[in-house]
Amino acid sequence: MLDRPIRRVPTLRDITVANVFFEPSTRTRISFELAEKRLSADTVNFSVSGSSVSKGETLKDTALNIEAMKVDMVVLRHRSPGAAVFLTRCIDAVIINAGDGAHEHPTQALLDMLTLTDIHPSIEGRNVSIIGDIAHSRVARSNIYGLRALGAHVTLCAPGTMTPVGIEEMGVRVTDRLDEALESCDVAMALRVQLERQEAVLFPGVREYHERFGITLEHMERYPDLRIMHPGPVNRGVELAGDVVDHERAVILDQVTNGVAVRMAVLYLLADRGAEPAS
Ligand code: CP
Repeated sequence: MLDRPIRRVPTLRDITVANVFFEPSTRTRISFELAEKRLSADTVNFSVSGSSVSKGETLKDTALNIEAMKVDMVVLRHRSPGAAVFLTRCIDAVIINAGDGAHEHPTQALLDMLTLTDIHPSIEGRNVSIIGDIAHSRVARSNIYGLRALGAHVTLCAPGTMTPVGIEEMGVRVTDRLDEALESCDVAMALRVQLERQEAVLFPGVREYHERFGITLEHMERYPDLRIMHPGPVNRGVELAGDVVDHERAVILDQVTNGVAVRMAVLYLLADRGAEPAS
């Protein structure tokens, strides 16, 4: 539908969606809003700056007030793990988790699965390496669930200080050697180092991090079938060399494109519009 001249269907025209973002976002926020508009929903956008949260209003009271204005669905991004589940206990509106702290980012994982199937139609048996700040990454956790459910072999690669204790129990292999993670994988998902969530210094410096865990043009030449994914935002020169971000085997912008379609599907399904999806 997104490739047609008229990229809009009336499917959700009687639905109102509030995009409530307590943390910064570019991709998730814009793609949810576009998805809502493509489905003809009414949308309202809420961010902390300029709202009464800055005057001390709680998440629950904010949500109750939004619901009192007859909002049907809330897309929530929040710094606290569990914030989306918490809201489901406070209000009757449908809640969609757009990222809760370092916990989960379900729609990111869904769009990543779609992007993977564009590269390899079956994910089962494929090798996917997730490389970077695993400890603070909601994207890593949601992708591990998705990839394991679809039968992929998952390797995590990070400094020991960014690898959660016991993560192997999620059915993944762990290494701190980048080449070990890259040599056997079909697709590498690089993650941003989330300095804003780190309470201690977890690595000596950006240059050393890039030398040990950054994917470079040299790696792309050494592994000629390797594809690169990244949820964004990218720190060029840290987890990925700038040349790798722009490389023809990087599908980072395809992930963003797929995000709109996936979020349309999520909105459609959670709005419970009957059996047949919009064509
Ligand atoms: N991938 C992702 O969540 O990006 P944003 O923080 O820009 O939404």
